Amino acid sequence: MGIIKSTINKANRILSDRRSIRKYDETVKISRSELESIIQDAMTAPSSFNLQPWRFVVIDTPEAKEKVKPYMMFNLQQLETSSAIIAVYADKKVAETADQVLSQGVEKGLRTEEQKQQLKDMILSYISSYTPERLANSLMMDCGFVCIQLMLSAKACGYDTCPIGGYDRQGFSDAVGMDTERYMPALLISIGKAAEDGKASTRYSVDAVTKWM
Ligand SMILES: Cc1cc2nc3c(=O)[nH]c(=O)nc-3n(C[C@H](O)[C@H](O)[C@H](O)COP(=O)(O)O)c2cc1C
Repeated sequence: MGIIKSTINKANRILSDRRSIRKYDETVKISRSELESIIQDAMTAPSSFNLQPWRFVVIDTPEAKEKVKPYMMFNLQQLETSSAIIAVYADKKVAETADQVLSQGVEKGLRTEEQKQQLKDMILSYISSYTPERLANSLMMDCGFVCIQLMLSAKACGYDTCPIGGYDRQGFSDAVGMDTERYMPALLISIGKAAEDGKASTRYSVDAVTKWM
């Protein structure tokens, strides 16, 4: 393992520049329109059947921060200093939302109504064979993609982030009014302008984690 070196492609600089930040400059407030752009860009992420199960709750007011405070565990400094906390959820009812997504394709002329129906039948038939565990894995994978894209999108806009898995999911969800029967908590992301450098971290060498065949 070694300290992360720059990636080979200049365009990938953003990957090596992203570091988890745990203390932010409290004087920097990211506007809602900037946050909206960052989230919109993040949603170019791939998702299973392009069903885009991710849903976001943006906590960027002192009142909302106060509500979730008891559920932040060891991540209080991030809550208190960040410009916002973005909670990412997965909508378990992908089968019900499929029509909406596929209809967009019809509106954009990407497919006919008939093709949409065929695709929808195929997707729904496939998804109906999922066990709850398989569905949860698929949803979490989709959310993972949107989360990393969100963090990189924020970095490209000059902001910093930290993924937060250490929080009381049920308490937090109750506090922000997200019904966990339908919306699976995936991750929180703190976002703001760094007030300190991210800690240097190490990564495996490719050899240590790769089998070539
Ligand atoms: C799923 C997940 C959960 C994490 N949870 C926390 C957390 O609760 N608090 C925290 O400070 N960092 C958290 N992190 C950040 C990791 O500690 C960090 O990504 C790792 O140490 C590598 O450092 P880097 O992001 O600066 O490269 C989490 C990261 C991931 C991917």
